[in-house]
Amino acid sequence: MLSIIPGEISTNKLHAYMLSSIAPRPICFASTVDKEGNVNLSPFSFFNAFGSNPSTLIFSPARRVRDNTIKHTLENVLETMEVCINVVNYDMVWQMSLASTEYEKGVNEFKKAGFTELPSDLIRAPRVKESPVQFECKVRQVIETGTEGGAANLIICEILKMHISETVLDAEGHIDQNKIQLVARLGGDWYAKAFGDALFEIEKPTRNKGIGVDQIPESIRLSTVLTGNNLGQLGNIETLPTENEISHFIETSGPYKNLIVRFGIDPESLEYERHLLAKEYLLIGDVKSAWMTLLG
Ligand SMILES: Cc1cc2nc3c(=O)[nH]c(=O)nc-3n(C[C@H](O)[C@H](O)[C@H](O)COP(=O)(O)O)c2cc1C
Repeated sequence: MLSIIPGEISTNKLHAYMLSSIAPRPICFASTVDKEGNVNLSPFSFFNAFGSNPSTLIFSPARRVRDNTIKHTLENVLETMEVCINVVNYDMVWQMSLASTEYEKGVNEFKKAGFTELPSDLIRAPRVKESPVQFECKVRQVIETGTEGGAANLIICEILKMHISETVLDAEGHIDQNKIQLVARLGGDWYAKAFGDALFEIEKPTRNKGIGVDQIPESIRLSTVLTGNNLGQLGNIETLPTENEISHFIETSGPYKNLIVRFGIDPESLEYERHLLAKEYLLIGDVKSAWMTLLG
């Protein structure tokens, strides 16, 4: 294991390790104006949502490691205490990258990157028309974590108004992840698509109270076939199948009966194949059949 103490390696190197391992990060496309009304647009992936009442977003234009200067976005925020945060989807990603160019103060990146300014209702900074979700925000607080290059400037925002394009909604009015097609930032020049094959679902365990991995019998827990994810699925079951359910499964399940016919005389192979079959059930999300296979 490579173990690192910040300060004992260069900030650049630490920055690279952090950004490649704390990923993927959502992208805040921040539109601001200075006190004269000059518009600025820049992306920031030190960004997330932190609460919904009050609705809190935080992003950080950091001090440049290169020369310890600060970013125009931070200067504008300190002047006006307002920002419009726009999400970035796949259709915008190349233009968004272009908008991160270090243009001189006063250059409007909406124009340089080819985006359309849409007036906000409650703040002066415009929205990005091409972005499917836009947040007009009041800046509540700016926290500087240091004065050296690489120090963060946490801009704590409260949403005043949120705009959602109907094109990204499903029939129930929820945002459809496959329609909104968000992208995220990783380390170096890498980005990730947050849609299509990249998506998978895990039911929230808040809906039930799983028995936990610690309650799984040792012969299953120490399986050489089942993975940590498999154990997580098994431990998420609320109650184990009853004796009756298991007996019924043994009598009716084709794959289970087949297993007994083929490996019944060799206990070691049977155990191994039982775990393989349970794993197949887990792959299709049938946790109950997996348990019945393991306990049968
Ligand atoms: C996807 C992406 C994410 C970025 N995230 C950050 C970030 O979180 N913090 C930061 O200081 N710079 C970040 N940058 C670099 C800034 O966008 C860049 O320095 C920009 O020119 C700052 O513009 P400004 O001086 O007009 O505010 C990011 C760049 C890209 C392309």
